[in-house]
Amino acid sequence: MTDRQTPPLRLGIAGLGTVGGGVVAIVQQHAALLAARSGRRIEITAVSARNRSRDRGVDLSSYAWEDDPVALARRPDVDMLIEVMGGEDGPAKAAIETAIAEGKHVVTANKALMAVHGQAMAEGAEAAGVALRYEAGVAGGIPVIKALGEGLAANGVTRVMGVMNGTCNYILTEMEKTGADYADVLEDAQRLGYAEADPSFDVGGIDAAHKLALLAALGFGTRVDFKGVVIEGIERITLADIRHASDMGFRIKLLGVAQMTENGLEQRMTPCLVPAASPIGQLDGVTNAVQLEGDMVGDVFLQGPGAGAGPTASAIMADVVDVARGLSVPAFGLPAAQLAEAPRAGDRSSAAFYLRLSLKDRPGALAKVAAALGEEGVSIHRMRQYDHDGECAPVLIVTHEAPRGAIDGAMGRIGAMEESLAAPVALRIEEV
Ligand code: HSE
Repeated sequence: MTDRQTPPLRLGIAGLGTVGGGVVAIVQQHAALLAARSGRRIEITAVSARNRSRDRGVDLSSYAWEDDPVALARRPDVDMLIEVMGGEDGPAKAAIETAIAEGKHVVTANKALMAVHGQAMAEGAEAAGVALRYEAGVAGGIPVIKALGEGLAANGVTRVMGVMNGTCNYILTEMEKTGADYADVLEDAQRLGYAEADPSFDVGGIDAAHKLALLAALGFGTRVDFKGVVIEGIERITLADIRHASDMGFRIKLLGVAQMTENGLEQRMTPCLVPAASPIGQLDGVTNAVQLEGDMVGDVFLQGPGAGAGPTASAIMADVVDVARGLSVPAFGLPAAQLAEAPRAGDRSSAAFYLRLSLKDRPGALAKVAAALGEEGVSIHRMRQYDHDGECAPVLIVTHEAPRGAIDGAMGRIGAMEESLAAPVALRIEEV
């Protein structure tokens, strides 16, 4: 029951785009539910956005308006800043820093800011004794920060893995289903409100890498290290790759993997092949999934909508309810000063690889390819040659497990062959 003596928790919302509008809608539609679950009323007192006159499909008339999010963060009638503007620096950062300095809690969906400045922000929040929460920043509506930071707190984490960009997964699965053009499908994703303001953050893997860096810090108790993530986007994945991978029993996903290796923390966000029949292989559309692996629990698989107004606002409001209830959890699972600085391991770990080669179809070409692989110590597991496209014969090879360095060496040799018509492509096959 709501405690009538407890004052309401008053929110100031900075940013009224897709997610901000979703937050307003939940606060308005679920006022009674939120109050019952929090033990106090949750109210919006003020909002801030760039464009005051835009119709956002929600009634904002009873909220004070601030043009400047920093002024919003300073308002005495705001107890908590909800930052849903985005951007790793600029007004979002200034507003969060102001809120913390003023002793106010912060809930943000801003993975870029947290991935780049998370350590400083966590230190600041701890010193001020306020909450800093970012569930909505990682995998949209999936409560993965809570699962990893709280639900699996008794585990040594061995690996964290996920498909965490709805736009990329939407593009890859729509292209596969319909044979549609990359650019058309990206336009759909933008229209549906999945894509970042700058969609190159999506297709270039940066958005998903921000999320992976946050999960890695939380899972391994390390300082968040976005620059340590090896990133490759989906731009060079062709419809032919998608179809060839499918013929060989795989699907291509923009997959993030973080694991502690003997060389340090490996963080990579790259297109990978995964078995089509695996749970990650079966993800369609904007759906995200995260696999958390702990030494006590084994594998935990979470799946759900990774983008859009409802799912992202759902995650924001879950954080709000936690803070309203008085729950206090360090941003990265440990006091910020105890987070370790992990060496960067790059993407050196061994794996099986899918190779796509574009060869002139002439005697001895395949023998040269096989020799290049053999000389680098890479063993061929499966191979297919497809029909010619003009002079070019696409050749696909699945290797046995090999070190990344050996694959790179072989790719260099094959790319330099006079029979090579285009740079060879190597994609990791991840065991999931
Ligand atoms: N642009 C992101 C995505 C939205 O496509 O998943 C949430 O970060």
